[in-house]
Amino acid sequence: MAPRLEDTLAAKLHSRDEKSSRRRLILPNTTVDLSSNDYLSLSTNHDLRDHFLGKLKSAELVLGSGGSRLLDGNTPAHVRLENRLKDFFRSSAALLFNSGFEANASFFSCVPQPGDIIVYDEYIHASVHDGMRASRARQSLSFRHNTVSSLRDILSRLIKEVPLLKAGRHNVFIAVESLYSMDGDFAPLVDILDIVEGLLPLGNGYVVVDEAHATGVYGPQGRGIVSSLGVEDRVFSRLVTFGKALGASGAFLAVFLVSPILREYLINYARPLIYTTAMSHTTVLSIGCSLDFLENGTASKLSSHLHKIISHFLDTIRPQLHATPHSIVALPSCLMDEHALDRTRLSPIIPLLTPQPRPLAAHLQSLGYLVRPIVHPTVPKGQERVRVCLHAGNTLEEVHGFIEATMGWVHAQTAIEKGRCAIGAKL
Ligand SMILES: Cc1ncc(COP(=O)(O)O)c(C=O)c1O
Repeated sequence: MAPRLEDTLAAKLHSRDEKSSRRRLILPNTTVDLSSNDYLSLSTNHDLRDHFLGKLKSAELVLGSGGSRLLDGNTPAHVRLENRLKDFFRSSAALLFNSGFEANASFFSCVPQPGDIIVYDEYIHASVHDGMRASRARQSLSFRHNTVSSLRDILSRLIKEVPLLKAGRHNVFIAVESLYSMDGDFAPLVDILDIVEGLLPLGNGYVVVDEAHATGVYGPQGRGIVSSLGVEDRVFSRLVTFGKALGASGAFLAVFLVSPILREYLINYARPLIYTTAMSHTTVLSIGCSLDFLENGTASKLSSHLHKIISHFLDTIRPQLHATPHSIVALPSCLMDEHALDRTRLSPIIPLLTPQPRPLAAHLQSLGYLVRPIVHPTVPKGQERVRVCLHAGNTLEEVHGFIEATMGWVHAQTAIEKGRCAIGAKL
């Protein structure tokens, strides 16, 4: 008899158990958040909460939008918010999506045309992969993470192999994130733009930047890294999301260059936008309140406080890890060299690289620090880590307590390793 579906599904889950890769929904039971993407701690900010509740009280509509943007869900509130976002982020058009995932999946599934090519950083988010899978592009291929020479080699090869690219008749889309969520490193955006513009001088190379982890934390008033570098006009499109540093949910895609056309095109071809209920009025109000906090400078103040906390964390843990074997815990080499650090643009995401991410995370959680182990396939084999994410709301006492707890585990592991070596030497 053929196995029942439930048995097949259970066997699949079991095979994940065996590889220690089964995902679970866990309720956090610890007090110090060193894990979420709530970088500015806005989701628990009392002033933002009061501001939001005030807006809710006075708004005429606060519940569901009633339909798709293309039917009854296109309300004046949605249009007003898009116009505010367009002006604030200095874009020529903006289009709201219910999430960053939907925005990315929509863009990459429908904007590249047959014959076009997508080149993406190998660490690009899953939402771009989902979009590419559904895309009619001729080919999608990755370049080595944050490595401009790898991007240059791939583009040069493509230009040789596909004459219509050189002639400007087909397009190349280059997908990158301004700040990567697992390594906490920044894309070399200006170098990437220089290479694309140099190799495709007819303008058929389109750089698409996902600012999901940078929105609110970097750039003037939190407008992101593209703005901080002043390259808005050289980037084809930016994804700005509201579920991370801005404490709300939903995303909007800001469109440049061919902007109004691209917006109209997405309204016509982006299936996740067309066939879904538009963002609720509650979310529209919540995003508007987060935007008020960007405009009135609150987010900038929180961001500079966050930068101080990150500096303090690195300056405290770095000397303590100098003598620690990499087989126990290490910081990425770029964070170990204090002179190489750009203190004006520090990342709140700090990976503690360790071959034992689960025991280290369990130890820290047992002491009240919420951190997550990150294992393959989320990161490549050999790059397992505990992902630490600092927030504007973390206190210096919490940072010190966390480092002490980490070093307690490091010292215990070092003693165990030494014991093992001594036994090995005797045998
Ligand atoms: C780089 C990146 N892009 C897009 C998304 C999706 O954004 P959202 O959470 O708004 O769906 C995420 C979320 O994890 C992300 O990390």
